[in-house]
Amino acid sequence: RTPDPCIVVIFGASGDLTKRKLLPALYHLEQAGLLPKDFAVVGVARRPLEESFAPDMKEGIVAGGGVEESDPKLAPFVDRIQYHAMNFDDPSGYDALKTKLAELDNKYNTCGNRLFYLATAPEYFSDIVNYLGEHGMAKPDVETAPNGCKVWVRTIIEKPFGHDLNSAKALNDEVNKVFSEDQIFRIDHYLGKETVQNILVFRFANGIFENVWNRNYIDHVEITAAESIGIEGRGPFYETAGALRDVVQNHVMELLSFVAMEPPVSFEASAVRAEKVKVWKAITPIHPADTVRGQYGPGIVDGKPVIGYRQEDRVHPRSQTETYAALRLEIENWRWAGVPFYIRAGKRLAKRVTDITIQFKQPPLLLFKDQQGKGGEGVKPNVLSMRIQPDEGITLRFGAKIPGPSMNIGTVNMDFSYAEAFGKSSANGYERLLLDAMLGDGTLFAHRDGVEATWALMTPILEAWKKDPVKDFPNYAAGTWGPSAADALLESEGRKWRKL
Ligand code: BG6
Repeated sequence: RTPDPCIVVIFGASGDLTKRKLLPALYHLEQAGLLPKDFAVVGVARRPLEESFAPDMKEGIVAGGGVEESDPKLAPFVDRIQYHAMNFDDPSGYDALKTKLAELDNKYNTCGNRLFYLATAPEYFSDIVNYLGEHGMAKPDVETAPNGCKVWVRTIIEKPFGHDLNSAKALNDEVNKVFSEDQIFRIDHYLGKETVQNILVFRFANGIFENVWNRNYIDHVEITAAESIGIEGRGPFYETAGALRDVVQNHVMELLSFVAMEPPVSFEASAVRAEKVKVWKAITPIHPADTVRGQYGPGIVDGKPVIGYRQEDRVHPRSQTETYAALRLEIENWRWAGVPFYIRAGKRLAKRVTDITIQFKQPPLLLFKDQQGKGGEGVKPNVLSMRIQPDEGITLRFGAKIPGPSMNIGTVNMDFSYAEAFGKSSANGYERLLLDAMLGDGTLFAHRDGVEATWALMTPILEAWKKDPVKDFPNYAAGTWGPSAADALLESEGRKWRKL
């Protein structure tokens, strides 16, 4: 299905996200024939970029991969990229924008359909939403366009959606005054990743795994979101965020909900969202003693020396911001009671890897236990590893007899690689989400309840951390696996992070 004709209006279009992710994703949709024929993009930002915007976006599209300069669809697509300069807090800019969009409707037959993408700094979200409302731009002017097309207005809101529970609630209230919930698409680009959607397919389209997906068979679950990059010049933003707000409250909590949720009654937005919220609400309050904070100091990453967090541009020399967070949590429901979930996320770690590891319990009777240390490794628990990125795939580890006269056991892997099975993809996760928003399908977006449920889990941790400044920051060297306290979190329960 291709979406209705429409204009995608990107606020904050001079930012990195538009060039690196959004325009490449829109163009990938165009290449795949999934964009409507009648379509335009309008970038909105403060600076006067009228001349340079479209060529700059073209550069981003080519750099994004999978696109040649000579691609026949590229020039006509770039022709439909427009720019509008305005201050987000200046009402007159919205009048001019409204006029411009109406003109573009005439030129491109876009029917008045609008997808407003809020990719600005979060402090502008409520101004933009309110001004759109005040200028009559948040609802369609008419229900049906003269050509019979049903008219819609939707908004995609980027993260961060709030910085704690109260601010998230306040933002929800403000946005809900102007847009109804079915017009709002709170984006989390992790939900656009194929490997993340595949967690649900793996669990619910296969007969064998769901039967063992519970406390009777699973010993514990680990979720790792490790990055080797630092803060990439985003000092002022990161100083107000930290790892818990930046990735745990959103990306990691989304991964956790897909791993832990009950089968929804259908793949409709409301059914999927309801199951996710149930998981987050079943998580017992996370005790500060079950959390670990880290901050990187100087170190070596990919063979090159890198500076510590406190030396980064526009970071306070005694900053208390965590660049690493680890947590232990429990989900108190029938499926998961007693199964610990260990989570860790951080910057400047040893490598970039996002992985979900499900470790199964040992068999009730270890027949081959005497064989340890006789050339084999002995019996190790089964592990299912879902590699979200990079080297996307799934691995199942099991024990096998090492050929020879005795019962020596080694561990072997059964491996599925996305690239081998389906070819390499240049998709960046935003394709699917932009398409779904244009189609009005909110299944892969965060809902009001969900955002508040995840902030309700994170806020007490943030408050406890604030009251208790860390004395040993920086406590891990760049290029390592984080602070030793994160290892202790598992070791105290006789476990270890799986080596990734
Ligand atoms: C963003 C965070 O939401 O996700 C970044 O703000 C982080 O700090 C990024 O680097 C990670 O996304 P990905 O797709 O590269 O794993």
